[in-house]
Amino acid sequence: MNIAFIGAGFVADYYATTLRNHPHLVLKAVWDRDTARLAKYCAHWKFKAARSYEEILNDRSIELVINLTNPSSHYEVSRAALEAGKHVYSEKPLAMQVSDAKALAALAEKKGLQLSGAPCTHLGEAAQTIIKTVREGKVGTPRLAYAELDDGPIHMLGMQSWSSESGAPWPWRDELEVGCTLEHAGYYATTLVSMFGPVKRVTACNTLLVPDKGVPTPPQPDLSIGVLEHESGVTSRITCTIYASHDHSLRVFGDGGVLVAGECWDYGAGVGIYPRRGMGLRVEKRLASAHRAGIGLVPVKLVRKPKFEWKTRGSNRMDFMRGPAELVEAVAQKRPSRISAQFSLHLNEIVLALDGRKPGGLTTELTTRCEVPSPMPWAT
Ligand SMILES: NC(=O)c1ccc[n+]([C@@H]2O[C@H](COP(=O)([O-])OP(=O)(O)OC[C@H]3O[C@@H](n4cnc5c(N)ncnc54)[C@H](O)[C@@H]3O)[C@@H](O)[C@H]2O)c1
Repeated sequence: MNIAFIGAGFVADYYATTLRNHPHLVLKAVWDRDTARLAKYCAHWKFKAARSYEEILNDRSIELVINLTNPSSHYEVSRAALEAGKHVYSEKPLAMQVSDAKALAALAEKKGLQLSGAPCTHLGEAAQTIIKTVREGKVGTPRLAYAELDDGPIHMLGMQSWSSESGAPWPWRDELEVGCTLEHAGYYATTLVSMFGPVKRVTACNTLLVPDKGVPTPPQPDLSIGVLEHESGVTSRITCTIYASHDHSLRVFGDGGVLVAGECWDYGAGVGIYPRRGMGLRVEKRLASAHRAGIGLVPVKLVRKPKFEWKTRGSNRMDFMRGPAELVEAVAQKRPSRISAQFSLHLNEIVLALDGRKPGGLTTELTTRCEVPSPMPWAT
C-alpha cells in the first residue's frame, strides 16, 4: 500500500526507522507545514517531500495517511484525509475532545475506511505475552492491575537538548502543554483493555507538582492517578507523571499469582510471575518487595523474540510502524483491525477521562465501548 507521513518532527524518525520492517508499505511522500523541517527530514531519510497537503490528498495512489502532527492538529489532519477517501493512522491522541474523536470514527465508518490510533503497544511481543499468560489462567483469576508510567523529572534531565536522529528538537513545550497523561497513558491502557476488556468508569485525580519547570509553560497537571473499572469486573490503576523516577512496570494481581513486566516501551521486555498460594505472610512480603529486581520471579518466555530493526537512538524499543501495518493487513484480509476505530475511540475517551484537564478528582462514566482485539497470529 502507498502511504504518506504528515508531520516530520521528532516522532517521524521512529516511523522512518521502523518502516523498513514492513517492506510492503511504500512511503510515497511526506508533508510538514514547517517546510525547513520537511526539507531536513526528507534529505536525511531520502524521502520525497510533497509541495502541500493537498498534493497528498489529491494523489489517488496514496491509500493511507499516517498523522504524525502535534495533538492540536490531529483532528483536522485526520478529518481531511478521511474526507479525501484515505485510511488514517493517527499518533495519539486521536483527538483532544471526545466529540471530535467520535466524529472521526463516524466519518471513517460512513466512508468505509479504517481509522486507527497509536500507540500499538498491545501488538508488541511483551504485551502479547502478558495478555496470553493472563488469558491462560497462569495468575488465576485476575482482579487488579497496577500500571506505572513514571518518566522522571524531565525538566531536570536536559529535555531542551534532546533531539531526534534527523535533528528535530524534542518538542518539550508541546509535551508539557499536552501533558504526560495524554502523552503516555495509552502505552498501558491499550494492553489493559486488550486484556480485561472495555472500561465503564474512570476516576482520576490530577495535580501539578512542579509549577515552575524553569520554562514558560501552562500549568498542566504533571501527575495523574486513575482507576479504570473494566466491565469484566477487573480494576486497573494507571499512574502517569513526569516527576517520580522512571518506572514503567506493570503488575497484574490474580488469586493464583502476580505477573510482573518491566517496561512498556520495549517489545522484548522481561515478564515474570511469582506465585501467591501457600507461601505465608513473610515470603509474600519479601517477594512483593523483591519483584522489581526480578528476585523470586519465574520468567515467562516471550511468545516470540521481537522481530524488527530497533531504533538506533532514544529510549524506545518498539516497532512504531506495526500499528499502520496492522491496519494495512486488516484492509487486505478484509478482517477487523486489532486497532479498530471503536478501540481507538474507546482508548481516546479513557485517556481524556484520566487527564481530566483540571486538577482534582473526577469520575467519568464512559460513553464508548469496543471489542477486545484478537491475539496476534503468533500469540494464540
Ligand atoms: N516526542 C516523542 O517522544 C513522541 C513519542 C511517541 C509519540 N509521539 C507523538 O507524536 C506526535 C508528534 O509529536 P512529535 O514529538 O513528533 O512533535 P514535533 O513537534 O516534533 O513534530 C510535529 C510536526 O508536525 C508538524 N505539524 C503540526 N501541525 C501540522 C499540520 N496541520 N500540517 C502539517 N504539519 C503539521 C509540525 O510542524 C512538526 O514538525 C504527537 O502526537 C506525540 O504525542 C511523540
